[in-house]
Amino acid sequence: MEKQSIKLGLMGFGTVGTGVVRIIQAHQEDLQKQTGLSIEISRILVKDAEKSRNIPSMESALTTDPASLLDDPEIEVIVEVIGGIHPAKEYILGALERGKHVVTANKDLMALHGAEILEKAQEKGCDVFYEASVAGGIPILRALVEGFSSDRIAKMMGIVNGTTNYIMTKMSQEGADYSEVLKEAQALGYAEQDPTSDVEGFDAARKMAILATLGFRVPMKLEDVDVKGISSVSKEDIAYGKQLGYEIKLLGLARRDEEAIEVSVQPTLVPKSHPLASVNGVFNAVYVHGEAVGETMFYGPGAGELPTATAVVSDLVTVVKNRKLGVNGRGMVAPYKEKVLKEDSEKFSKYFLRIVVADKRGVLAQITQLLADKNISLEQVIQQPFNNGREAEIIMITHMSSKSDMDAVLAYMEQMDIVSTVQSCYRVEGGDK
Ligand code: NAP
Ligand code: HSE
Repeated sequence: MEKQSIKLGLMGFGTVGTGVVRIIQAHQEDLQKQTGLSIEISRILVKDAEKSRNIPSMESALTTDPASLLDDPEIEVIVEVIGGIHPAKEYILGALERGKHVVTANKDLMALHGAEILEKAQEKGCDVFYEASVAGGIPILRALVEGFSSDRIAKMMGIVNGTTNYIMTKMSQEGADYSEVLKEAQALGYAEQDPTSDVEGFDAARKMAILATLGFRVPMKLEDVDVKGISSVSKEDIAYGKQLGYEIKLLGLARRDEEAIEVSVQPTLVPKSHPLASVNGVFNAVYVHGEAVGETMFYGPGAGELPTATAVVSDLVTVVKNRKLGVNGRGMVAPYKEKVLKEDSEKFSKYFLRIVVADKRGVLAQITQLLADKNISLEQVIQQPFNNGREAEIIMITHMSSKSDMDAVLAYMEQMDIVSTVQSCYRVEGGDK
C-alpha cells in the first residue's frame, strides 16, 4: 500500500524547533494538499529531557539518544535545529550516510562545512536544504537558485544580521551610544550575553559566504569574506553620515566584475534614498542586482520562532515533493564556476573619512593633495572646530577609490604630524548599480 505519511526526526526543540512543530501542526492540511502526504514527527532530540516544553503534547516524543532518530529506518528526513558545529555536523553526516534527507537552519555549519555536507548528500542521492540559515523567514536562497537561474547576478547587498541592525537603528534614531544600545538589546534578548559573533560581523559573514556561493555559483569560503563589525561605530559617525545624506548599516556586500568577486561585511554608508537605508530594527533585507532583471529587493524578518520555522518547513515540503517525483538529491546546484577573488586594487568604492587635524593654515590643502596623489577626489567635505578650537575635524565623502589606494592614504595619514587621529573610514555603497 502506498504511504500516507512521511516521518521526520526533529533534532532540537528550542526556538526554531518549537516553531517547526507549531507550523506542521497548524498547517497540516495545507501541507498534505501540497505534498500528498501527512508529515509526522516521530521523535525529537533534545539535550535535557527533563526541561518543561511549550508544547506539552510532544513531550512523549522527546529523547536524548540521537541513534533513536538516526537508526530508525522509518524516519526519512532529519530536521537539524540544534545549532553550532558539533555534534550537529556528525548527526547530519550520519543521517546522509543512512540515506536520510536533511533540512537545517545552521548557517555556522553550512558556511564552514557546507561543501563536505553537500558532497555527501550528492553521493547518497539525498536532499540537503538550508533556507532558514540566511535571513530567517525571507526565502532568499531558493530565489537565488531558482528565481535567478536565468540571470547573472552582479551584486548582492544584505542587511543579514538583525541584532546589529537593531543597534544601528537605535543609535541613528535616538543619537545613543553603541554600548548603551548594546546593553538594551541584551536586556530585550535580541543580543546574546556574548555578542561577539553578531557585533563583530562574523554571523553576517557566514550568511554572506552562503549567499555568494549560491548567487555567483562559486565555492566561497568564510575566509574569503573581509569582515569588520560595528563596535567602533560612534554616534558622531552616524550624526555626520546623516548630515551628509546617509545612514550607516552593517552591510554585507558581494560584487562581481567580469569573473572577479569580492565579498565583505562592514559598516557602510548607504544613501537615505536607497531602500536598504529604511530597513530598520531587527528586520533583514537582501538587495540583488541581476544583469538582466536589474534591481530587486527581498525584505522581512531575519529570525524568530515562526518566521524561521516557515523556511524550515518549506524546505521539508520540497523534500517531500522531490520524493514524489523521484528527484531527491538533484535539487540545489553545486557551485560550478572557478573562484577568482579580486585584489584590493580592484575593489572600488566611495569612502567616508573622519579625521582630526591641527587647525593650521594649509592643513586642508595637504590632506586634499595626499588624496589627489592617489587619484582620489572629494565629493563632500565638512570642517568643524574640535577640542575647543585647538584642532579641526574634517569629514569627507570621496569619489571612487580602490581599497589599496585608500589603505595607502590611511597609512600615510597615521604618520603625518598634522593628523592627530584617523577617527573612522567606512565604505559608501548604494549610489551606483
Ligand atoms: P535554541 O533555542 O538554543 O535550541 C537549541 C535546541 O537544540 C534545544 O532544544 C536544545 O535542547 C537542543 N540541543 C542543543 N545541543 C544539543 C545536543 N548536543 N544534543 C541534542 N540536542 C541539543 O536554538 P534556536 O534559536 O532554535 O536555533 C537553532 C538553529 O537555528 C541554529 O543553527 C540557529 O543559528 C538557527 N537559526 C535560528 C534563528 C532564530 O531566530 N532563533 C533564526 C535563523 C536560524 P534543550 O532544549 O534540551 O536545551
Ligand atoms: N543572531 C542572528 C541575528 C539570528 O541577529 O540576525 C538570526 O540568524
